[in-house]
Amino acid sequence: MKTVTEIVNQQLFSAEDLRVLLTAKGRDRELLFAKAREVKESVTGKKVYFRGLVEFSNVCSKDCLYCGIRKSNGKVVRYNATDEEILEACRFAWEKRFGSVVLQSGELESKSFVQRVDKLVKKIKQLSNNELGITLSCGEQSQETYLRWFESGAHRYLLRIEASNRELYYKIHPDTPKHSFEKRVEALQFLREAGYQLGTGVMIGLPFQTSDDLVNDLLFFKKIDIDMCGMGPYIEHEHTPLYQFRHLLQPKMDRFHLALNMIAVLRLLMPDINIAAATALQAIDPAGREKALTVGANVIMPNLTPCEYRKEYLLYEDKPCLDEDAALCRNCLEARIELAGSEIGYDEWGDSKHFFSRQ
Ligand code: 5AD
Ligand code: FES
Repeated sequence: MKTVTEIVNQQLFSAEDLRVLLTAKGRDRELLFAKAREVKESVTGKKVYFRGLVEFSNVCSKDCLYCGIRKSNGKVVRYNATDEEILEACRFAWEKRFGSVVLQSGELESKSFVQRVDKLVKKIKQLSNNELGITLSCGEQSQETYLRWFESGAHRYLLRIEASNRELYYKIHPDTPKHSFEKRVEALQFLREAGYQLGTGVMIGLPFQTSDDLVNDLLFFKKIDIDMCGMGPYIEHEHTPLYQFRHLLQPKMDRFHLALNMIAVLRLLMPDINIAAATALQAIDPAGREKALTVGANVIMPNLTPCEYRKEYLLYEDKPCLDEDAALCRNCLEARIELAGSEIGYDEWGDSKHFFSRQ
């Protein structure tokens, strides 16, 4: 059998190689992390890019079994931030020289929602003299909507596949035809064709998920040739149906370590993509996101959601930064990133190098 040292120095990886890396522990894990860091620094550089995250609405038409803001969770107070509040958060990001913002929300397909996002994208472009990059994360939409938002100025889109194993996907999204694996994959294709830098990702440590599923998630990312990835540990939420399967879960710390391994392995598999240090990592370890930056991630998303709404955007338990205001969050991130030995890419969009090498 090949050693981890041999595998990390390859350019191509078989499914078996990926499985070995994903399950690496102790000294082997250290070797994996060191190599991922080296590859990140030599390929994408030492810089870490900020994306100011604005979770502008928690109203959602879907019912994912794991998600705290699912439609059927009656315990959530639904909110819609006003345009002024959203633009204010984006202005803050621009003034603080963040390269870009991410507008994220629950999923709605109504005309008024589509129009609203469109208008917001245009206004963010205006307020920043076209300087702020805009990522959208507003779920599955029609091809026409994706095109429209792209033409208005959004240039990246995050749509996690959540689980690339169709069977597992339906275990956690059983409500068909509202949820459709085929439609989700098709949506990724539409986004690619519309011209976006394409981001996807999965949850790590889900009940019923195996390490082969995670290997196949990595191969899925490679196959559809993503530009960006955001993936983090699954964290249970009491007011969701998946909570009943918590006895099947690995301990939180194991899910955390597995998520770090996934990030490191993905960095080796796709050296020039952008990889985000997911917020969910910080729900388990207070320094979780910074640890991710040392093992291959190069993007971090400080939360700029207006404080009064944050406690209603609880996708999972122990979500961090509930009472930090945006300025405080930024200062603490800055210190932490320096601790993690990286520099901050101010004023830059920090685009995925992979995207341009595909053009
Ligand atoms: N644990 C971890 N991540 C979650 N998400 C939703 N619910 C949870 C949870 N319970 C993630 C999904 C979604 C992203 C916005 O948040 O992957 O795509
Ligand atoms: Fe809103 Fe999953 S619950 S998209």
